[in-house]
Amino acid sequence: MAIKKVFVVGAGLMGGGITQISATAGYQVTMRDIAQEPLDKAMKEIERSLGKFASKGKITEEQAKQAIKNITTTTEMSAAADADLVVEAVFEKIELKQDVFKQLDEVCKPECILASNTSAISITSIASVTKHPENVVGTHFFSPVPMMQLCEVIRGLQTSDETVAAVLDFAKAIGKETVVVQKDVAGFIANRVGLAMSCVAIKLVEAGVATPEDIDKTMKLGFGHRMGPLETSDMTGIDILMNAMKAIYNETQDERYAPPEIMQRMVAAGLLGRKTGKGWYDYSTGEQVAYWKL
Ligand SMILES: NC(=O)c1ccc[n+]([C@@H]2O[C@H](COP(=O)([O-])OP(=O)(O)OC[C@H]3O[C@@H](n4cnc5c(N)ncnc54)[C@H](O)[C@@H]3O)[C@@H](O)[C@H]2O)c1
Repeated sequence: MAIKKVFVVGAGLMGGGITQISATAGYQVTMRDIAQEPLDKAMKEIERSLGKFASKGKITEEQAKQAIKNITTTTEMSAAADADLVVEAVFEKIELKQDVFKQLDEVCKPECILASNTSAISITSIASVTKHPENVVGTHFFSPVPMMQLCEVIRGLQTSDETVAAVLDFAKAIGKETVVVQKDVAGFIANRVGLAMSCVAIKLVEAGVATPEDIDKTMKLGFGHRMGPLETSDMTGIDILMNAMKAIYNETQDERYAPPEIMQRMVAAGLLGRKTGKGWYDYSTGEQVAYWKL
């Protein structure tokens, strides 16, 4: 099925980014949130970001204007009735996502593809509340969406080949590289691999083996990573990371994902990383400086 109309549910960080790149690629996009305020905020951010792309010559002024024209905002779920593809990007709560998918199942065309941008929730469990689980798929974009190249496409237990093929085409059309996660496992590929490494790195700091700087330096200079695992966890947020580890651990009982105790203490102390000014590093001066002593 050719995708022409896209409906994005959730106008936060991810929903706004997905709306922006879809509209820039020429799709008609309707972005839905529960109130006008987040929609207005998202539109402001999209305009700012498109302006930046235009000033760098990555798109023309005309393309930036057209992208804005391609976006409509709404607080009504019923506006999804003529969508060919819905991308859901609401808060990471299974009850909320299932509620959204139940509503979409009522209002959307039977052939409409329903995609979730979930980082960790099983696509199969989201699909289970719909009448067409074969049309439900994961599209895991990365933040910031306009900059990050990857989209993980996740196959739920009943997702059809046609649905996977259609979202792969869509992701390509909006300028993303894709990987297919053939089985609906907790953490998909990116978090399954990335969080295991973060967990080991944090356990090494906890055990007094090396400082965060030396672990990050090792991975950057020894393995060519752009950022070290501790820097990355400060950027993600220690609380977000810990919850993501717990989600994989709860499903798999795999000790490699058991969050180290030190993370619980950091969360209790408000050392959440960049967003609170301190985590594995201190950002209070605006620079990233060493903070942990062994
Ligand atoms: N932030 C990231 O780095 C990142 C990366 C990859 C995936 N994700 C996933 O993307 C999803 C969204 O994350 P985010 O960071 O954009 O969240 P966010 O908190 O920035 O935005 C969520 C938005 O959803 C809206 N919302 C809540 N209930 C709604 C409903 N019923 N209908 C419509 N809108 C509703 C909220 O008002 C809010 O604007 C989550 O599942 C998250 O795990 C996030």
